[in-house]
Amino acid sequence: MTIRDIFDSMDYGPAPESSAESLAWIAAHNGKFGHWIDGAFTKPGEGFDTANPATAKVLATVTQGTEADLDKAVSAARKAQPAWAKLPAHQRAKYLYALARLVQKNSRLFAVLESMDNGKPIRESRDIDIPLVARHFYYHAGLAQLLPSEQPDMAPLGVCGAIIPWNFPLLMLAWKVAPALAAGNTIILKPAEFTPLTALLFAELSREAGLPKGVLNIVTGDGDTGAALVAHSQVDKIAFTGSTAVGRKIREVTAGTGKALTLELGGKSPYIVFDDADIDSAIEGLVDAIWFNQGQVCCAGSRLLVQEGIAERFHGKLKRRMDGLRVGDPLDKCIDVGAIIDPSQLAIITAMVDANREGETYRAATPVPVGCFYPPTLITGLSAASTLMQEEIFGPVLVSTTFRTPVEAVELANNTRYGLAATVWTENINLALDVAPKLKAGVVWVNGTNMFDAAAGFGGVRESGFGREGGWEGLLAYLKPIAKRQPLTQAKASPTPANPTTEGLDRTAKLFIGGKQARPDGGYSKPIYSPKGKLLGQIGVGNRKDIRNAVEAAHAAKGWAKATAHARAQILYYIAENLSARAAEFARRLKDLTENPGEQEVEASIQRMFTYAAWADKFDGAVKSVPIRGVAIAMNEPNGVMGLLCPDEVPLLGLISTIAPAIAMGNTVIVVPSETAPLAATDFIQVLETSDLPAGVVNLVTGSHSDLAKPLASHMDVDAVWSFSSTPLSAVIEREAASNLKRTWVNHAFARDWYGPDGEGRAFLRAATEIKTIWVPYGE
Ligand code: NAI
Ligand code: MG
Repeated sequence: MTIRDIFDSMDYGPAPESSAESLAWIAAHNGKFGHWIDGAFTKPGEGFDTANPATAKVLATVTQGTEADLDKAVSAARKAQPAWAKLPAHQRAKYLYALARLVQKNSRLFAVLESMDNGKPIRESRDIDIPLVARHFYYHAGLAQLLPSEQPDMAPLGVCGAIIPWNFPLLMLAWKVAPALAAGNTIILKPAEFTPLTALLFAELSREAGLPKGVLNIVTGDGDTGAALVAHSQVDKIAFTGSTAVGRKIREVTAGTGKALTLELGGKSPYIVFDDADIDSAIEGLVDAIWFNQGQVCCAGSRLLVQEGIAERFHGKLKRRMDGLRVGDPLDKCIDVGAIIDPSQLAIITAMVDANREGETYRAATPVPVGCFYPPTLITGLSAASTLMQEEIFGPVLVSTTFRTPVEAVELANNTRYGLAATVWTENINLALDVAPKLKAGVVWVNGTNMFDAAAGFGGVRESGFGREGGWEGLLAYLKPIAKRQPLTQAKASPTPANPTTEGLDRTAKLFIGGKQARPDGGYSKPIYSPKGKLLGQIGVGNRKDIRNAVEAAHAAKGWAKATAHARAQILYYIAENLSARAAEFARRLKDLTENPGEQEVEASIQRMFTYAAWADKFDGAVKSVPIRGVAIAMNEPNGVMGLLCPDEVPLLGLISTIAPAIAMGNTVIVVPSETAPLAATDFIQVLETSDLPAGVVNLVTGSHSDLAKPLASHMDVDAVWSFSSTPLSAVIEREAASNLKRTWVNHAFARDWYGPDGEGRAFLRAATEIKTIWVPYGE
């Protein structure tokens, strides 16, 4: 036998990890678990089994959480929350630190139990999942410590509900529990039905950390339990990770309730290999991207895009590498690919692959044990529209296609409804950094893949959801402003007088779409009166078609995002200057509309424009201190196309307070001005026309807020909607936004002091941007 022969066969003996400790822990509970509520296990009740997918053996029985169980858990969490929030930050930090230490001290037990309940290779649970869990608690101990000095105006939300999937059971627990507790919230977490065990072990160990009762509660159960947690009236926030279908349902159910929501959903993430890439490294990266955790990863690099010139060689090498992957017993330390989570999931993967009639399917030439296992699979030669190129398979199946130019690569990469992650391989740093910002994704990895860290935000855009986990950006999703909120009453338009007085020429204001004044599609206009009964003018009544035209114009103007921040600032200053030149005229208009002297509002509006002209080039991103040789860059990117429903009560200041932050950050907007006093906005069209603002960056559609909110919020090409309208529209907007899971920021009928600090600043800038984390490792 030559050395070459040995290398080719690479036979390994088995290196099994013992399951004894994990089985002993289960046995100590007689194989039956209740929920963890108020610091203790409840008596086990009616429930279901959780099995080891690699052996099909039942590991334990857990309890199906009922509404009564949830009531108990929520009231324990409610009771515990004020004291938990009042603890000095240092005390909370110490608890989180203790949890991190506990995870480390019991790391092997957690890793083995995780591999048994989930089927993932011990190599992964031991070297990736559990170390990341510990890191997450350490990092959040630090955030808890620094919270009062770094976020002095923020308070916890209250009681959080978390619902997590089965693919990274303990890691997803950490991603929810650590920030919730660090911020001073208490939590009820529902693990996935296939993988509840490590959450229960964690809960039990939390007693050793001395965690006060009721701060952490675990309620097991299936989707019904999840749905009941979402619907619970005493829960202030839902943090969900799972499928896009369930995420969409949760968006609909929570609409209008005032519950905070973050969604981390599915993906079909592109893995782009340029012809100058280090091919061997790119192949190793790809093994991690799609065969890590059997491909059951929301951010799996499941769509290979390889440059035409190297495609044949790349696919050849890849197939050879696939043949070397070892599939089998997850507790064997030499195993690369473990078991699929459940026979039902195996059936889905099998059916999806078998239904495909396109391209060429290659299955790794490696032994695959009988049972819940699926061979590493590559499908080449698919067209961009093929089902397998578009749908998440959530299994060890890679689909592949080729491209010719970087432009085509970006187009193909973005040809998906998702936007979670993307990977770029090239030795040309210029090309990598040119492509990364163009990819529609919350995370981009350059010459590497699946890099995660507690300091770096993770999360998606488009139908991959919204919100970030990790970093300060993640913590903010568990906080709210301290300031008490006052209710907002619906503004009323001045009524039609019996004998309206008119002076001068009747002027009908038009809509403003794509840089041109446009007649409303419906051909209707509406008189606007002063409180004294004077006819002030007419406005066009916009409809669904006008919204569609405005969205199209806003899309056509997306080059605005590429203008330099300096250039955008200049235009905002110019708008302020032109407004200032007509200050007296605007003040008169406001006086006519509202009876209040208008000077103060005009002055505040000019100042606000200046504020965001100033911010345009100062809302900086960050370089995160991640534990790799390299950098993770957190870039603030515009949302894209935004719909803005303006406040009624301050017609000019409200208009500017919403438009200015949005366009300063590079968004293009469709604005629906004050419904009751729209004429200050239509006068403002002339200011925009004379300020060098590119056509389509600001589009203005006047009319009824309740008629226009729905088409705006349901539009598939709108990326975010804000509403500060005094018409109660929050529920409609949040519900309709479920269509493409766009981000929303609505007032839930609470007022905002537009003249005070609440009327401007970072909250607006954060809502106008998405953070993209770009990982760039160093070194040859
Ligand atoms: P799922 O989205 O149904 O389950 C995730 C969690 O939500 C579980 O804890 C489940 O009990 C809970 N849940 C289910 N229905 C609910 C409802 N109506 N309200 C509240 N909570 C609910 O995902 P599932 O069934 O485990 O997997 C189905 C597919 O979802 C996979 O094939 C995969 O494509 C995708 N998926 C994506 C994940 C990701 O990380 N993005 C994770 C898991 C699954
Ligand atoms: Mg299981």
